[in-house]
Amino acid sequence: MTDLLEPTTTLPQERRLVTPVPGPRSAELMARRSATVSAGVGTTLPVFVERAGGGVVVDVDGNSLIDLGSGIAVVNVGNAAPRVVAAVQEQVAAFTHTCFMVTPYEGYVAVCEELARVTPGDHEKRSALFNTGSEAVENAVKIARHATGRQAVVVFDHAYHGRTNLTMALTAKNMPYKHRFGPFAPEVYRVPMSYPFRDEPGLTGAEAAARAIAQIEAQVGAANVAAVLIEPIQGEGGFVVPAPGFLPALAEWCRASGSVFVADEVQTGFCRTGDWFATEHEGVVPDLVTLAKGMAGGMPLAAVTGRAEIMDAVHTGGLGGTYGGNPVACAAALASIETMRAQDLAGAARAIGDTMLPRLRALQERTPAVGDVRGRGAMVAVEIVKPGTTEPDPELTGRVARACHADGVVVLTAGTFGNVLRFLPPLVIGQELLGEGLDVLDAAFAEHAG
Ligand SMILES: Cc1ncc(COP(=O)(O)O)c(C=O)c1O
Repeated sequence: MTDLLEPTTTLPQERRLVTPVPGPRSAELMARRSATVSAGVGTTLPVFVERAGGGVVVDVDGNSLIDLGSGIAVVNVGNAAPRVVAAVQEQVAAFTHTCFMVTPYEGYVAVCEELARVTPGDHEKRSALFNTGSEAVENAVKIARHATGRQAVVVFDHAYHGRTNLTMALTAKNMPYKHRFGPFAPEVYRVPMSYPFRDEPGLTGAEAAARAIAQIEAQVGAANVAAVLIEPIQGEGGFVVPAPGFLPALAEWCRASGSVFVADEVQTGFCRTGDWFATEHEGVVPDLVTLAKGMAGGMPLAAVTGRAEIMDAVHTGGLGGTYGGNPVACAAALASIETMRAQDLAGAARAIGDTMLPRLRALQERTPAVGDVRGRGAMVAVEIVKPGTTEPDPELTGRVARACHADGVVVLTAGTFGNVLRFLPPLVIGQELLGEGLDVLDAAFAEHAG
């Protein structure tokens, strides 16, 4: 991996611990947080942030942590990326909001033009902008139902699509996302995912797709399916990469049966997996894609982009929202996309994968608790099990994550069984810093699973 030629931050790119993690000022703020913020809002790492940039997060005690999380796959271009900062400052000084549905502005249109360029397929496209990934997914379902006149939505085991009422129904995992929050939206049907580590050995992508399709046809009926909604690599579900052939077979079935194939690229999008979008790796062209997270360098912005005839089927006024496509967020998105092009961040993501995957496979060789290493580009994970089995070990996963945190590396967990450590470094992280983060991870496994 070559370090990027353009400066991405002025913050020193180093791991520096000057207090225990969390330090005293963070502990003080955590006490204030507990007294005022709902206990329902969780915290992965109880350090309060003062600054962040490149591959580091600096806390209020002066500790500089290596960032292998990107705020959950958001700051692909790095935190406070220079182009994003400049664009936001310029826009915020011009105007902050008019509501695009009241008096429109160019930035929204320019973002939709960029989305038509960067998303898979060269068909005519339209987009609509929103604020969060959940909102994008909800709107993709609305659009697919309206365009097809059908109601059923097919989703997969281990899927995560958000926390609103409809997206809770679409999400697979009970704790913490759904527990006691029902009743959930109807007409949602869940079918088996292709999960090579947990499927019967040798099951191909085509066979896994046939299994899912047989269930859809028997239990839902092809003529009732408005949309098949899938993450091309599952995010919260544990970075499950389906076997080759799975996504193309599903897309083909949708085409043949007149349902809308929706790729939820909220976590995988915007260069994360080494291409603009993860569906590109198998040449799949979705009818609709849902986008958010990495799109706008940390500003809240989301989108549904897709075939013009599907997107335009909706009656005027049927889509929108007060803040959707906020002008400041649009300026940030244009600057983020420009940064991705100028710095070849898809190439940077591939280089990150080329560094991480061999190191994690070496870790797997010497650590029986590491059952699987998987991922693509800068979206990689290890699945942790009881040695010699596929039985999940969420306790060990938590211990290793906490050891990394204490030693100054931000890592995240994931997985239906809570036994996946996932890594999502900013795509602008330097080689040396990434290597040091992996050294810390190795040491944590040596101590807790050696
Ligand atoms: C694949 C996927 N879809 C949807 C969402 C929901 O996005 P948001 O948290 O912005 O509502 C997420 C968030 O993690 C996600 O990973």
